[in-house]
Amino acid sequence: METKIFCIEEAQLNSTQADEIFTMAGQIIENGGLVAFPTETVYGLGGDALNPDASKAIYAAKGRPSDNPLIVHIAEFEKIYEISDDVPEVARLLADRFWPGPLTMIVRKNESVPFATTGGLDTVAVRLPSDPIAREFIKKSGGFIAAPSANTSGRPSPTTAAHVAEDLSGRIDMIIDGGRACIGLESTIVDLSEEVPVILRPGYVTIEMLREICPDVVMDKGLALDATQAPKAPGMKYRHYAPKADMTLVRGETMPEITAKIKTLVENGISGGYRVGVIATEETADKFDLGEVLVMGTLGDENTLAAGLYDVLRRFDDIDVDMIYAPCFSKSGIGEALYNRMLKAAGRKVIE
Ligand code: TXA
Ligand code: MG
Repeated sequence: METKIFCIEEAQLNSTQADEIFTMAGQIIENGGLVAFPTETVYGLGGDALNPDASKAIYAAKGRPSDNPLIVHIAEFEKIYEISDDVPEVARLLADRFWPGPLTMIVRKNESVPFATTGGLDTVAVRLPSDPIAREFIKKSGGFIAAPSANTSGRPSPTTAAHVAEDLSGRIDMIIDGGRACIGLESTIVDLSEEVPVILRPGYVTIEMLREICPDVVMDKGLALDATQAPKAPGMKYRHYAPKADMTLVRGETMPEITAKIKTLVENGISGGYRVGVIATEETADKFDLGEVLVMGTLGDENTLAAGLYDVLRRFDDIDVDMIYAPCFSKSGIGEALYNRMLKAAGRKVIE
């Protein structure tokens, strides 16, 4: 299959050219095909959420286990009532505050959502993205788009159309290129299907932000470093977001202390004959004179670190390092989500 790639600049959103692209994408979706599209978090691989064959095609294209449910993307809040007969009041309050945006809510599904989309579960994850290209695409494609991140299962999520093409070219019908995903980490997931709301995946919308609307929300205990139970979201149990190399996080009191420790680890690795990668920041990069050093962002703004993570992990795959050392950053704001993804990438390996 030939994968067509079209670029839409935000400024041309209302042009006839963009309109033709959306119409073409809508036809592909209607026929059960797959279209990758930008969102503010990461690129999604979209198919018709109400067509079980489209969902099966998504799993096949990604090589994803079919028990790992997909998120259904909508472009208008009211659409949630077409796929769930049991939308709690708190969902409306959270939507008022955080939609459109990087928050996914899990509610009970109704019979219009096939089990192929929810991995056999009787709940459905719903998200209304803020990216205007995503919303226009969803509207022109039937209104319900099942979309996991548009990477091959096991690889870091894609934050550019080039990342999507790298993984899925030849396996999907179309890629809409809308530039770099600005957040760079997947949405926060909150499960509203049981009595107490539970965060199944941390993201840009933090627990503190959610508590302003929903004071009783808690974090899934399965996400902690020392967890004895499995995470509740099926997808969080896999070691994905992962580079090919063996990655280790280094934790310490201060960044200079962590940097010094990483320098020693890099020297040891190199003298053992390994190719060693280092995740650095604008502030720390010039402290490393050995190893393959890639800059993820600036310590002054954790959002830049989050936005840079997956690209850096992919670049380490390209240059074939054997091991990667990365610092633990501050957990404030999106830092909690960043730590969660870095822990997963490192297979939970942390040294002090
Ligand atoms: O930011 C995002 O959420 C991106 C963009 C494309 O919207 N999508 C995304 O989808 O990250 P995916 O498939 O890579 O991750 C979805 C996660 C998985 O961990 C899955 O197990 C969980 O959501 N999930 C989906 N439906 C669920 C449900 N009904 N119950 C529990 N977990 C669910
Ligand atoms: Mg994913």
